[in-house]
Amino acid sequence: MLKQEIEDGQASLADPQFRADVLNGLALRPRAIPARWFYDRRGSELFEDITGLPEYYPTRTEIGILRRIGPELQQHIGPGQAVVEFGSGSSMKTPLLLEAIRPAAYVPVDISGDFLRESAGRIAGQFPDIAVEPVEADFTRPLTLPKGLGAMPRLGFFPGSTIGNMLAARAVELLRNFRDVLGEGARFLIGIDRIKPLDVLIPAYDDAAGITAAFNLNLLERINRELAGTIPLDAFAHRAIWNDARARIEMHLEATRDMTFAVDGRVFSIAAGETIHTENSHKYGPRDARLLLRAGGWTPIAEWTDPDDWFALILAEAGPERFAP
Ligand code: TRP
Repeated sequence: MLKQEIEDGQASLADPQFRADVLNGLALRPRAIPARWFYDRRGSELFEDITGLPEYYPTRTEIGILRRIGPELQQHIGPGQAVVEFGSGSSMKTPLLLEAIRPAAYVPVDISGDFLRESAGRIAGQFPDIAVEPVEADFTRPLTLPKGLGAMPRLGFFPGSTIGNMLAARAVELLRNFRDVLGEGARFLIGIDRIKPLDVLIPAYDDAAGITAAFNLNLLERINRELAGTIPLDAFAHRAIWNDARARIEMHLEATRDMTFAVDGRVFSIAAGETIHTENSHKYGPRDARLLLRAGGWTPIAEWTDPDDWFALILAEAGPERFAP
Protein backbone atom coordinates (compact mmCIF):
# COMPACT_ATOMS: atom_id res chain seq x y z
CA MET A 1 0.00 0.00 0.00
CA LEU A 2 1.27 3.50 -0.78
CA LYS A 3 1.97 5.90 2.08
CA GLN A 4 -0.66 8.35 0.88
CA GLU A 5 -3.31 5.61 0.78
CA ILE A 6 -2.52 4.58 4.33
CA GLU A 7 -2.84 8.18 5.49
CA ASP A 8 -6.14 8.56 3.68
CA GLY A 9 -7.42 5.36 5.29
CA GLN A 10 -8.15 4.06 1.79
CA ALA A 11 -7.41 0.66 0.30
CA SER A 12 -6.94 1.32 -3.38
CA LEU A 13 -5.12 -1.94 -4.03
CA ALA A 14 -7.97 -4.20 -2.89
CA ASP A 15 -10.22 -6.07 -5.33
CA PRO A 16 -12.61 -3.35 -6.59
CA GLN A 17 -15.54 -5.76 -6.61
CA PHE A 18 -14.85 -6.73 -2.99
CA ARG A 19 -14.78 -3.07 -2.01
CA ALA A 20 -18.01 -2.32 -3.90
CA ASP A 21 -19.83 -5.35 -2.43
CA VAL A 22 -18.77 -4.48 1.12
CA LEU A 23 -19.48 -0.75 0.93
CA ASN A 24 -22.85 -1.28 -0.75
CA GLY A 25 -23.72 -4.21 1.50
CA LEU A 26 -23.00 -2.33 4.73
CA ALA A 27 -25.27 0.49 3.54
CA LEU A 28 -28.19 -1.86 2.68
CA ARG A 29 -31.09 -2.52 5.05
CA PRO A 30 -30.95 -5.27 6.09
CA ARG A 31 -27.17 -5.24 5.68
CA ALA A 32 -25.76 -8.10 3.60
CA ILE A 33 -22.40 -9.06 2.10
CA PRO A 34 -22.22 -11.77 -0.61
CA ALA A 35 -20.88 -15.10 0.64
CA ARG A 36 -18.28 -15.44 -2.11
CA TRP A 37 -15.99 -13.13 -0.12
CA PHE A 38 -15.65 -15.70 2.67
CA TYR A 39 -13.11 -17.62 0.66
CA ASP A 40 -9.73 -16.01 1.13
CA ARG A 41 -6.96 -18.43 2.11
CA ARG A 42 -7.97 -18.58 5.78
CA GLY A 43 -11.66 -18.79 4.86
CA SER A 44 -11.03 -21.72 2.52
CA GLU A 45 -9.06 -23.52 5.26
CA LEU A 46 -11.81 -22.90 7.82
CA PHE A 47 -14.38 -24.21 5.36
CA GLU A 48 -12.38 -27.43 4.92
CA ASP A 49 -12.41 -27.72 8.74
CA ILE A 50 -16.19 -27.24 8.78
CA THR A 51 -16.69 -30.19 6.45
CA GLY A 52 -14.99 -32.45 9.02
CA LEU A 53 -17.00 -31.26 12.07
CA PRO A 54 -19.21 -33.81 13.87
CA GLU A 55 -22.19 -31.43 13.60
CA TYR A 56 -21.68 -30.77 9.87
CA TYR A 57 -23.58 -33.77 8.47
CA PRO A 58 -23.70 -32.84 4.71
CA THR A 59 -20.18 -33.84 3.66
CA ARG A 60 -20.01 -37.22 5.35
CA THR A 61 -23.64 -38.02 4.48
CA GLU A 62 -23.10 -37.28 0.79
CA ILE A 63 -19.85 -39.28 0.78
CA GLY A 64 -21.68 -42.19 2.42
CA ILE A 65 -24.37 -42.14 -0.28
CA LEU A 66 -21.76 -41.97 -3.06
CA ARG A 67 -19.90 -44.97 -1.64
CA ARG A 68 -23.07 -47.00 -1.37
CA ILE A 69 -24.50 -46.28 -4.82
CA GLY A 70 -21.35 -46.88 -6.89
CA PRO A 71 -22.57 -50.10 -8.53
CA GLU A 72 -26.01 -48.61 -9.24
CA LEU A 73 -24.52 -45.48 -10.74
CA GLN A 74 -22.46 -47.67 -13.01
CA GLN A 75 -25.66 -49.24 -14.35
CA HIS A 76 -27.26 -45.86 -15.08
CA ILE A 77 -24.14 -44.31 -16.52
CA GLY A 78 -22.22 -46.28 -19.10
CA PRO A 79 -18.46 -46.20 -19.72
CA GLY A 80 -16.60 -43.61 -21.81
CA GLN A 81 -18.18 -40.56 -20.18
CA ALA A 82 -16.70 -37.11 -19.81
CA VAL A 83 -17.32 -36.06 -16.20
CA VAL A 84 -17.52 -32.28 -15.79
CA GLU A 85 -17.35 -31.14 -12.14
CA PHE A 86 -18.52 -27.58 -11.49
CA GLY A 87 -16.66 -25.84 -8.66
CA SER A 88 -14.40 -28.82 -8.10
CA GLY A 89 -12.41 -27.13 -5.30
CA SER A 90 -10.25 -29.78 -3.67
CA SER A 91 -12.07 -32.60 -5.57
CA MET A 92 -12.51 -34.64 -2.38
CA LYS A 93 -15.61 -36.53 -3.53
CA THR A 94 -14.43 -37.01 -7.10
CA PRO A 95 -12.48 -40.29 -6.65
CA LEU A 96 -15.64 -42.02 -5.41
CA LEU A 97 -17.48 -41.09 -8.59
CA LEU A 98 -14.56 -41.87 -10.89
CA GLU A 99 -14.01 -45.29 -9.27
CA ALA A 100 -17.69 -46.10 -9.68
CA ILE A 101 -18.17 -45.16 -13.32
CA ARG A 102 -14.62 -45.19 -14.80
CA PRO A 103 -15.10 -42.34 -17.28
CA ALA A 104 -12.78 -41.56 -20.20
CA ALA A 105 -12.25 -37.93 -19.21
CA TYR A 106 -12.51 -35.72 -16.14
CA VAL A 107 -12.95 -31.94 -16.50
CA PRO A 108 -12.74 -30.06 -13.19
CA VAL A 109 -14.02 -26.48 -13.52
CA ASP A 110 -12.99 -24.01 -10.85
CA ILE A 111 -12.45 -20.27 -10.55
CA SER A 112 -9.37 -20.73 -8.36
CA GLY A 113 -6.51 -21.76 -10.68
CA ASP A 114 -4.07 -22.84 -7.95
CA PHE A 115 -6.56 -25.12 -6.27
CA LEU A 116 -7.62 -26.48 -9.66
CA ARG A 117 -4.16 -27.44 -10.92
CA GLU A 118 -3.23 -29.01 -7.59
CA SER A 119 -6.31 -31.22 -7.40
CA ALA A 120 -6.27 -32.01 -11.16
CA GLY A 121 -2.68 -33.24 -10.75
CA ARG A 122 -3.66 -35.42 -7.81
CA ILE A 123 -6.59 -36.99 -9.70
CA ALA A 124 -4.47 -37.57 -12.82
CA GLY A 125 -1.89 -39.41 -10.69
CA GLN A 126 -4.56 -41.52 -9.06
CA PHE A 127 -6.40 -42.39 -12.31
CA PRO A 128 -3.82 -42.83 -15.09
CA ASP A 129 -6.49 -44.11 -17.54
CA ILE A 130 -8.61 -40.98 -17.29
CA ALA A 131 -7.77 -37.86 -19.33
CA VAL A 132 -7.84 -34.95 -16.86
CA GLU A 133 -8.46 -31.58 -18.51
CA PRO A 134 -8.94 -28.74 -15.98
CA VAL A 135 -10.79 -25.58 -17.02
CA GLU A 136 -10.20 -22.39 -15.02
CA ALA A 137 -13.53 -20.60 -15.23
CA ASP A 138 -16.48 -19.12 -13.37
CA PHE A 139 -19.16 -21.80 -13.69
CA THR A 140 -21.99 -19.28 -13.42
CA ARG A 141 -20.96 -17.98 -16.89
CA PRO A 142 -21.11 -19.67 -20.28
CA LEU A 143 -17.96 -21.74 -20.80
CA THR A 144 -16.44 -23.88 -23.52
CA LEU A 145 -15.47 -27.48 -22.78
CA PRO A 146 -12.12 -28.81 -24.07
CA LYS A 147 -12.36 -29.72 -27.78
CA GLY A 148 -10.78 -33.11 -27.05
CA LEU A 149 -14.01 -34.38 -25.47
CA GLY A 150 -15.49 -34.72 -28.95
CA ALA A 151 -18.70 -36.73 -28.92
CA MET A 152 -18.15 -38.36 -25.51
CA PRO A 153 -21.37 -38.51 -23.49
CA ARG A 154 -21.32 -35.94 -20.71
CA LEU A 155 -22.03 -36.21 -17.00
CA GLY A 156 -22.17 -33.01 -14.96
CA PHE A 157 -21.27 -33.34 -11.24
CA PHE A 158 -22.29 -30.70 -8.70
CA PRO A 159 -22.01 -32.09 -5.14
CA GLY A 160 -22.02 -30.33 -1.77
CA SER A 161 -25.46 -28.73 -2.06
CA THR A 162 -23.79 -25.61 -3.43
CA ILE A 163 -27.05 -25.06 -5.35
CA GLY A 164 -28.61 -24.32 -1.93
CA ASN A 165 -26.42 -21.27 -1.47
CA MET A 166 -28.34 -19.52 -4.28
CA LEU A 167 -31.79 -17.97 -4.38
CA ALA A 168 -34.21 -20.08 -6.42
CA ALA A 169 -34.08 -17.76 -9.44
CA ARG A 170 -30.25 -17.84 -9.52
CA ALA A 171 -30.27 -21.61 -9.00
CA VAL A 172 -32.52 -22.07 -12.03
CA GLU A 173 -30.28 -19.82 -14.15
CA LEU A 174 -27.26 -21.85 -13.06
CA LEU A 175 -28.91 -25.18 -13.91
CA ARG A 176 -29.80 -23.78 -17.35
CA ASN A 177 -26.22 -22.67 -17.84
CA PHE A 178 -25.01 -26.20 -16.99
CA ARG A 179 -27.48 -27.55 -19.54
CA ASP A 180 -26.14 -25.17 -22.18
CA VAL A 181 -22.55 -26.13 -21.36
CA LEU A 182 -23.18 -29.90 -21.33
CA GLY A 183 -25.72 -30.07 -24.17
CA GLU A 184 -28.91 -31.99 -24.79
CA GLY A 185 -28.72 -35.64 -23.84
CA ALA A 186 -26.23 -34.97 -21.04
CA ARG A 187 -26.72 -36.33 -17.52
CA PHE A 188 -26.22 -34.48 -14.30
CA LEU A 189 -25.54 -35.73 -10.74
CA ILE A 190 -26.30 -33.13 -8.08
CA GLY A 191 -26.20 -33.15 -4.27
CA ILE A 192 -29.08 -31.32 -2.60
CA ASP A 193 -29.53 -30.92 1.15
CA ARG A 194 -32.93 -31.78 2.62
CA ILE A 195 -35.22 -29.98 5.07
CA LYS A 196 -34.77 -31.70 8.43
CA PRO A 197 -35.27 -31.20 12.19
CA LEU A 198 -33.82 -27.96 13.53
CA ASP A 199 -31.85 -29.72 16.25
CA VAL A 200 -29.77 -31.20 13.43
CA LEU A 201 -29.79 -28.22 11.06
CA ILE A 202 -28.81 -25.42 13.43
CA PRO A 203 -25.72 -27.06 15.01
CA ALA A 204 -24.43 -27.84 11.50
CA TYR A 205 -24.10 -24.09 11.02
CA ASP A 206 -23.27 -23.22 14.64
CA ASP A 207 -20.89 -25.87 15.95
CA ALA A 208 -19.71 -26.30 19.54
CA ALA A 209 -16.03 -25.76 18.66
CA GLY A 210 -16.85 -22.40 17.06
CA ILE A 211 -15.30 -23.15 13.66
CA THR A 212 -18.32 -21.88 11.71
CA ALA A 213 -18.32 -18.76 13.90
CA ALA A 214 -14.62 -18.22 13.08
CA PHE A 215 -15.43 -18.75 9.38
CA ASN A 216 -18.18 -16.11 9.50
CA LEU A 217 -16.10 -13.63 11.55
CA ASN A 218 -13.12 -14.09 9.21
CA LEU A 219 -15.05 -11.99 6.69
CA LEU A 220 -14.74 -9.01 9.03
CA GLU A 221 -11.02 -9.66 9.53
CA ARG A 222 -10.63 -9.73 5.76
CA ILE A 223 -12.47 -6.40 5.46
CA ASN A 224 -10.22 -4.84 8.11
CA ARG A 225 -7.09 -6.15 6.42
CA GLU A 226 -7.88 -5.58 2.75
CA LEU A 227 -10.21 -2.58 2.92
CA ALA A 228 -8.58 -0.56 5.70
CA GLY A 229 -11.43 -1.40 8.08
CA THR A 230 -11.65 -0.57 11.78
CA ILE A 231 -14.47 -3.01 12.60
CA PRO A 232 -14.29 -4.13 16.28
CA LEU A 233 -14.33 -7.92 15.88
CA ASP A 234 -15.31 -8.49 19.51
CA ALA A 235 -18.55 -6.55 18.91
CA PHE A 236 -20.00 -9.18 16.54
CA ALA A 237 -21.42 -12.63 17.24
CA HIS A 238 -22.08 -15.47 14.81
CA ARG A 239 -25.76 -16.37 14.38
CA ALA A 240 -27.30 -19.25 12.44
CA ILE A 241 -31.10 -19.04 12.13
CA TRP A 242 -33.75 -21.06 10.31
CA ASN A 243 -35.98 -18.96 8.04
CA ASP A 244 -38.97 -21.26 7.69
CA ALA A 245 -40.85 -19.18 5.10
CA ARG A 246 -37.84 -19.43 2.79
CA ALA A 247 -36.73 -22.90 3.94
CA ARG A 248 -33.18 -21.82 4.55
CA ILE A 249 -30.45 -21.50 7.13
CA GLU A 250 -29.17 -17.94 7.27
CA MET A 251 -25.83 -16.93 8.70
CA HIS A 252 -25.58 -13.48 10.20
CA LEU A 253 -23.06 -11.42 12.13
CA GLU A 254 -24.97 -9.74 14.95
CA ALA A 255 -23.80 -6.52 16.62
CA THR A 256 -23.56 -7.06 20.37
CA ARG A 257 -23.32 -3.31 21.11
CA ASP A 258 -23.73 0.04 19.34
CA MET A 259 -20.65 0.90 17.32
CA THR A 260 -19.17 3.18 14.70
CA PHE A 261 -16.34 2.11 12.40
CA ALA A 262 -14.78 2.96 9.05
CA VAL A 263 -14.20 0.89 5.94
CA ASP A 264 -12.13 2.38 3.12
CA GLY A 265 -12.66 5.85 4.61
CA ARG A 266 -16.45 5.48 4.87
CA VAL A 267 -18.09 5.61 8.28
CA PHE A 268 -20.83 3.17 9.38
CA SER A 269 -22.87 3.09 12.59
CA ILE A 270 -24.50 -0.15 13.65
CA ALA A 271 -26.83 -0.54 16.62
CA ALA A 272 -26.80 -3.45 19.05
CA GLY A 273 -28.98 -6.27 17.69
CA GLU A 274 -28.61 -5.32 14.02
CA THR A 275 -27.11 -7.99 11.76
CA ILE A 276 -25.04 -8.33 8.62
CA HIS A 277 -26.48 -11.20 6.57
CA THR A 278 -23.63 -13.28 5.13
CA GLU A 279 -24.93 -16.62 3.79
CA ASN A 280 -28.02 -18.61 2.82
CA SER A 281 -28.25 -22.37 2.66
CA HIS A 282 -31.61 -23.37 1.17
CA LYS A 283 -32.96 -26.81 1.97
CA TYR A 284 -35.26 -28.74 -0.37
CA GLY A 285 -37.91 -31.37 0.21
CA PRO A 286 -38.02 -34.26 -2.31
CA ARG A 287 -40.59 -32.57 -4.58
CA ASP A 288 -38.98 -29.14 -4.18
CA ALA A 289 -35.66 -30.52 -5.43
CA ARG A 290 -37.21 -32.23 -8.44
CA LEU A 291 -39.20 -29.12 -9.36
CA LEU A 292 -36.04 -27.02 -9.14
CA LEU A 293 -34.25 -29.39 -11.51
CA ARG A 294 -37.11 -29.42 -14.01
CA ALA A 295 -37.31 -25.62 -13.90
CA GLY A 296 -33.61 -25.64 -14.79
CA GLY A 297 -34.15 -27.92 -17.80
CA TRP A 298 -33.19 -31.22 -16.16
CA THR A 299 -35.49 -34.27 -15.85
CA PRO A 300 -34.82 -36.33 -12.71
CA ILE A 301 -34.32 -40.03 -13.52
CA ALA A 302 -33.00 -41.50 -10.26
CA GLU A 303 -32.55 -40.42 -6.67
CA TRP A 304 -30.68 -41.71 -3.63
CA THR A 305 -30.67 -40.64 0.01
CA ASP A 306 -29.16 -41.77 3.31
CA PRO A 307 -31.26 -43.80 5.80
CA ASP A 308 -32.29 -40.59 7.63
CA ASP A 309 -33.27 -38.78 4.38
CA TRP A 310 -30.95 -35.91 5.32
CA PHE A 311 -29.30 -35.49 1.93
CA ALA A 312 -30.15 -36.43 -1.65
CA LEU A 313 -28.13 -37.23 -4.74
CA ILE A 314 -30.26 -36.82 -7.85
CA LEU A 315 -29.41 -38.02 -11.34
CA ALA A 316 -31.11 -36.01 -14.09
CA GLU A 317 -31.09 -35.86 -17.84
CA ALA A 318 -31.20 -32.97 -20.30
CA GLY A 319 -34.04 -34.23 -22.47
CA PRO A 320 -35.62 -32.26 -25.28
CA GLU A 321 -37.99 -29.59 -23.96
CA ARG A 322 -41.64 -30.14 -24.81
CA PHE A 323 -45.06 -29.08 -23.61
CA ALA A 324 -46.84 -32.42 -23.39
CA PRO A 325 -45.58 -35.62 -21.75
N1 TRP B 1 -23.22 -25.53 0.39
C1 TRP B 1 -22.82 -25.95 1.70
C2 TRP B 1 -23.89 -25.60 2.72
O1 TRP B 1 -24.67 -24.74 2.50
C3 TRP B 1 -21.48 -25.42 2.07
C4 TRP B 1 -21.39 -24.02 2.62
C5 TRP B 1 -21.36 -22.86 1.96
C6 TRP B 1 -21.24 -23.70 4.00
N2 TRP B 1 -21.18 -21.84 2.83
C7 TRP B 1 -21.11 -22.31 4.06
C8 TRP B 1 -21.17 -24.45 5.17
C9 TRP B 1 -20.95 -21.67 5.29
C10 TRP B 1 -21.01 -23.82 6.38
C11 TRP B 1 -20.91 -22.43 6.45
O2 TRP B 1 -23.96 -26.22 3.74
